[in-house]
Amino acid sequence: MKVINNTDITKYFDEASEFYMQDIGVVFQAVLLNHSPVATLDYLAGKLNLEKAKEVLDLGCGIGSSMLYYSKRYPSINLTGVTISSKQVEIGSLPLSMWGNGKATILEGDYHYTNLPSKKYDRIYLFESSCYSTDPTRLIAELNRLCNNDGVVLIKDIFLDENLENLSADKKESLNRLQQIYKVPVAKLSDIINKLELEGFEVEVENLDPPKWTMDKWFEGFTLKNGTLTDMGKYHNIQNNITEFPPVSWRLIKAKKTNEKL
Ligand SMILES: C[S@@+](CC[C@H](N)C(=O)[O-])C[C@H]1O[C@@H](n2cnc3c(N)ncnc32)[C@H](O)[C@@H]1O
Repeated sequence: MKVINNTDITKYFDEASEFYMQDIGVVFQAVLLNHSPVATLDYLAGKLNLEKAKEVLDLGCGIGSSMLYYSKRYPSINLTGVTISSKQVEIGSLPLSMWGNGKATILEGDYHYTNLPSKKYDRIYLFESSCYSTDPTRLIAELNRLCNNDGVVLIKDIFLDENLENLSADKKESLNRLQQIYKVPVAKLSDIINKLELEGFEVEVENLDPPKWTMDKWFEGFTLKNGTLTDMGKYHNIQNNITEFPPVSWRLIKAKKTNEKL
C-alpha cells in the first residue's frame, strides 16, 4: 500500500467533504444507531456524560456537526474541534457562529501534534476520525497530554479483525478497496487498546454491530441513489463487483485516565 502522509488526508477531505454532505449527510459517520445521526450523537453524548462536562475536545471534527448539535443541547460546555482540512473549517465555522451558542470553535490542525493546552480537557472524542491516524502511538500520547486527570476519551471507529488467516480472495479484495478509501491501513483493536493502556488509560470496549448499528445510509451514499452512481461513488471510483464484506468491525472505546503510565 502507498505510504500516506497527512497532506494526503488533508487533500482527501478538502476534496471529498462536499460529496459527503451531498450524498451521506453532515455527520460523516459510517455506522449509525437506528439509522439516525441524531440517535447516534445522543448515544455517544450519554457515554461521554456531557451533562457533567466543561471542556470538550472533538478531534477530527469534520464540518463540526456534532459540535453544533452538542453546543445547543449542552449550552454550558466549551467545545473545541480540530480538523486537518481547511475546507472543513471554512464550511463548519459559519453555521457554528450562527447557530452555536458562542462556545464552540473549529480549528485547523493535526491531531497528532496540537498546540492546545495540556490537561485542559475533561472529555475528548474521536468519531470515526482516529482511523485516519498515520501514527497511532503519537496520537494516543497526544490524547494523554490533553486529557485532564479525571478525563474520558471516547473513540468510535472501524477496526481490522484480529485473525486474518484464510481470508477468501473476495474478502482480501474488499479489504484492499476499503483501505484505498480510508487511505491509511485500518488498525487492529488490540493494537489501539495496548497503546492506550501503555499511556495509562483504563479501557472498556463496546461492539457496534447490527441490527442496532447499521451502515445502510453510508452504502447508499457511496453507491447508488435512484439507480445512479452517486458523486461520492464516482469520486471514490466505486465498482459494485465485490460480494464479500471486508474483515472489519466498528467498536466504541471508552478510555479513562488512571494516572498510571505503564
Ligand atoms: C470521517 S470524518 C469524521 C468527521 C466527524 N467526526 C463526524 O462525525 O462527522 C474524519 C475526520 O478526521 C479528520 N482527520 C483525519 N486526520 C486528521 C488529523 N491528522 N488531524 C486532525 N483531523 C484529522 C478529517 O479532517 C475529518 O474531519
